[in-house]
Amino acid sequence: MSAASENPLSLKGRVAVVTGGGRGIGAATSKRLAEAGAFVAVVDQDAGGATRTAKEIGVVGGEAIHFQADVTDSFAIERLFDQVVHEWGSLDILVNNAGIVREARIDDVTEQDWTDTLDVNARGAVVCTRAAVQHMRARRFGRILSAASIVARAGSFGQTSYAASKAAIMGMTRVWARELGPEGITANAVAPGFIDTEVGRSVPEAALRQILARTPAGRMGRAEEVANVYVFLASDLASFVNGAVVGVDGGRRL
Ligand code: NAI
Repeated sequence: MSAASENPLSLKGRVAVVTGGGRGIGAATSKRLAEAGAFVAVVDQDAGGATRTAKEIGVVGGEAIHFQADVTDSFAIERLFDQVVHEWGSLDILVNNAGIVREARIDDVTEQDWTDTLDVNARGAVVCTRAAVQHMRARRFGRILSAASIVARAGSFGQTSYAASKAAIMGMTRVWARELGPEGITANAVAPGFIDTEVGRSVPEAALRQILARTPAGRMGRAEEVANVYVFLASDLASFVNGAVVGVDGGRRL
């Protein structure tokens, strides 16, 4: 019997780590997970953001702690996850949400753009997943959830490195599903369309109009709408969902 007993969407007793939880989709996801009953460790390289999210969760009666850490720092991440397990007894849900974008069309992509983007978005997810799996394996339960993007399928002007990093997330999610499924650990990703966060708001007006014209919903998505899908994938209702990349894009055409 699972810890989340009466309501299959309940995450009561589960322990979650959300990377990049200091703002945007990560903050919304941290809050939704806490509302569903999970203990949430909010991790962000921005200490102020992580603190704010954890505080907001606490104000409404949820349980959260905050950590300042860079997902590419494997030593720090391993210590941090150990601390979470020491504090709360397990690590059941990992949300690999931290991500960056370096805009440049192919002629102008620098080695640094490429390295930085792949390092945070792809290697960061590997670092966190590898560290989390050690703890999940012990209890034969785990949910690895990662942020892909519609851009990996549709392409997007100026996003060579970003699209590559998000395609990597899709591929790795399927690998982890195969490798870890037999141990009770599932791996799934979300592929958001255009979501109204600080990153989303930086898109030029003309590009925004084009995107909205291809989106049947006729609007940008909200961070909470991505968070809701993460909560479902983290829950017992998603027990037979493994290796999926779930679009959260208002039906946007590629
Ligand atoms: P955001 O830029 O608003 O928030 C990202 C958070 O990650 C920030 O708090 C930042 O400090 C943190 N972060 C960045 N690098 C980090 C690192 N090395 N270590 C720890 N924390 C780090 O981003 P947003 O819009 O909330 O997106 C969240 C995720 O969803 C990202 O992976 C993004 O690529 C993905 N996504 C977003 C879409 C959108 O339209 N906003 C669409 C598709 C995917």
